[in-house]
Amino acid sequence: MPVEVLSFIGGTGPEGLGLAVRFAAAGHEIVIGSRSPERARQAVEKIEARVPGARATGMVNQEAVGRGDIVFVTIPFAGHRDTLEALAPAIGAKVVVDVVSPLSFGDGKIAAIAVPEGSAAEQAQALLPEAQVVAAFHHLDASELMRVERPMGADVVVCADHQEAKKRVMALAEEIEGVRGLDGGPLANSRYLEQFTVVLLSLNKTYKARTSLKIAGIPSSPKG
Ligand SMILES: NC(=O)c1ccc[n+]([C@@H]2O[C@H](COP(=O)([O-])OP(=O)(O)OC[C@H]3O[C@@H](n4cnc5c(N)ncnc54)[C@H](OP(=O)(O)O)[C@@H]3O)[C@@H](O)[C@H]2O)c1
Repeated sequence: MPVEVLSFIGGTGPEGLGLAVRFAAAGHEIVIGSRSPERARQAVEKIEARVPGARATGMVNQEAVGRGDIVFVTIPFAGHRDTLEALAPAIGAKVVVDVVSPLSFGDGKIAAIAVPEGSAAEQAQALLPEAQVVAAFHHLDASELMRVERPMGADVVVCADHQEAKKRVMALAEEIEGVRGLDGGPLANSRYLEQFTVVLLSLNKTYKARTSLKIAGIPSSPKG
């Protein structure tokens, strides 16, 4: 796959950073976005520590989005609407990969938050009508992503209404060692991906584990 510039809105958090580390290891150029240039620079140092020779830079979200061929949304759902509204002009018609699961953690209980548009990814598509929104990577645990020397051994189910963008993101997912990208259908299916995160987090708690998703019954791709 050609080298692409991958920008991460909120790439200073564990999930954005973990994905950035894996894609830096695959040879892509990384742009970490943050509300703070200083935090973005610190995140870049963490990438460089794990992937010597990584091509990574850090800047505020607005600038990071402008640089990216593909823009990842890796922020909590609490900031999803306001952040995307503010960045919409900079995002324009780009491919946007929404990794967000809308969850609440009140009273020690994890639950899915009802989203008026159906899902976080559908909210993103409504806020960014020109963009090609793809929902993916919800079930790759951040701390496992950071252990870049270990293959992930997981499937990434990808949902989108834009077929070319979906294929591009499935191919990108398979650049992470041990990941198989699967076509999960239209963007409307993203609500089930996002909500299933609740089940995985519950399993993690019960079994003191770091679970991911693996679908049986589909012949494996060479990388699966
Ligand atoms: N953690 C996981 O294992 C995991 C796995 C799969 C999917 N996810 C999903 O990925 C997303 C990010 O997860 P995370 O654990 O990395 O989250 P996080 O650490 O809570 O947040 C990531 C970054 O988002 C920015 N941010 C925080 N609040 C914000 C707000 N109100 N508005 C705008 N930006 C804000 C912060 O960056 P700055 O302060 O630098 O701007 C923060 O470092 C979540 O939606 C989660 O559902 C997480």
